[in-house]
Amino acid sequence: MEAPLKMEELERWINTKWTPRYPDQDMLTMWVSNTFTSEVILGKIDPDFSMAGSYKFVGIRPTECPAVVHVNAHDIHGNVTFQTGAFIYNFAQRETGQIVEVLLLATYFSDDGRMICQASLPKTFVHAWADFANECNRLSRAITPNSRVVVIGGRISSFKPTVDWDEIILPAKLKAEILDDVEAFFTRGVGVYQRLKLKPFRKLLLAGVPGTGKTMLCSALAKWALERDYLVVYISSADAQGATFVKIEQALAAAAASSTPTLVIMEELDAYLNKNEKALMLNVLDGSESVSNEQGTLLVATTNYPEAIDERVLKRPGRLDRIFIIPEVKVHEDAERMLQKYLGPVWGDEHRAFAPKLVGYPGAFIREVAVGALMQCAGEAMDDLPLELLERSFNSLKDQIDARDDFLTKRPVLNFKALGQKN
Ligand SMILES: Nc1ncnc2c1ncn2[C@@H]1O[C@H](COP(=O)(O)OP(=O)(O)OP(=O)(O)O)[C@@H](O)[C@H]1O
Ligand SMILES: [Mg+2]
Repeated sequence: MEAPLKMEELERWINTKWTPRYPDQDMLTMWVSNTFTSEVILGKIDPDFSMAGSYKFVGIRPTECPAVVHVNAHDIHGNVTFQTGAFIYNFAQRETGQIVEVLLLATYFSDDGRMICQASLPKTFVHAWADFANECNRLSRAITPNSRVVVIGGRISSFKPTVDWDEIILPAKLKAEILDDVEAFFTRGVGVYQRLKLKPFRKLLLAGVPGTGKTMLCSALAKWALERDYLVVYISSADAQGATFVKIEQALAAAAASSTPTLVIMEELDAYLNKNEKALMLNVLDGSESVSNEQGTLLVATTNYPEAIDERVLKRPGRLDRIFIIPEVKVHEDAERMLQKYLGPVWGDEHRAFAPKLVGYPGAFIREVAVGALMQCAGEAMDDLPLELLERSFNSLKDQIDARDDFLTKRPVLNFKALGQKN
């Protein structure tokens, strides 16, 4: 026999132990949002807030129910937020002082933190409860303007949305396609999803070898989003927890609670597709984990290892809406711009001759070649940078990389062609 659902267990307890306490009332069990269990949100309810029938919320107290345990969660600021357990919510009628009690049972039903809540209330109180629920939801969406960037799994300072679109040197067509895609989703796309009764949730992947500018693109997109007062959620795997699904859940909860369009940035998507959490991640990508922000949520993920993202993600329609391959520098004009950018005032016409050699390398490599040459130049107190120093910096960096590659020979070759890159 299959184990009963947690929901059924709660329902059984309510029917056998709770509603018999109210023999004169017609009681109703309802599935409710976990928002109501957040201390932060309950604490924000105005004491004058009036509900249907002139009821006001007067507080909650824990009660006993063996079907649930009491566990707290906290937000990124360390405030206690959602809690599980059994609680009695008290509402008072303003004129008569009559008290209505609503039982709320909240519980996790999986060890990765998924939660359900059920309430038991008198049928006559449903309209007042609906007002209370709407107010809690409104408060939960009201994220203050100074927290437009939410960093999950890292310090707020670890993500700086300061890159200008123009600083990124990539094929103009590719840059335009990325920005067009993002803009089109938030302007026209969200309406299309809604008309089709789909959740407005779009997912893009930026894939490329290290150092091609993926993080720069994320940062520039974040800046673009912040200029429009959107919420930006940045998921980092840099802290001790690493790439865990809990972070994705927190990010989606922040997106769902936002009253504005939301950009979620997830670096190193491949790291979240490990054995244990893959199924959960697939649910997020195909939208069965709820991301219910009507204004639209755009997920921009990055990876160095598209080969680690299996076909179930890459090829199934609807999981990743679009994959952009972020390439190494492809033409000598771009290599020249990049070199000029990183040499700064030291740049001179004679350096142009070196650009063709840099084609085929990622931006980060070219930057390092420039920095290495500039350091050498400064060390020898030279005013101009001779081509020869660039050459030397290039060779020494290349030797280092080749030596490392020899060491790490097991790393499989990236096969972007297999992902359908046209050029
Ligand atoms: N396309 C580019 N245009 C200009 N500068 C670039 C570009 N790509 C890389 N750089 C330089 O290299 C640095 C590293 O790039 P970035 O962190 O964006 O690479 P990445 O693709 O995110 O790498 P990884 O895959 O290792 O995370 C940038 O801060 C920038 O200085
Ligand atoms: Mg990066």
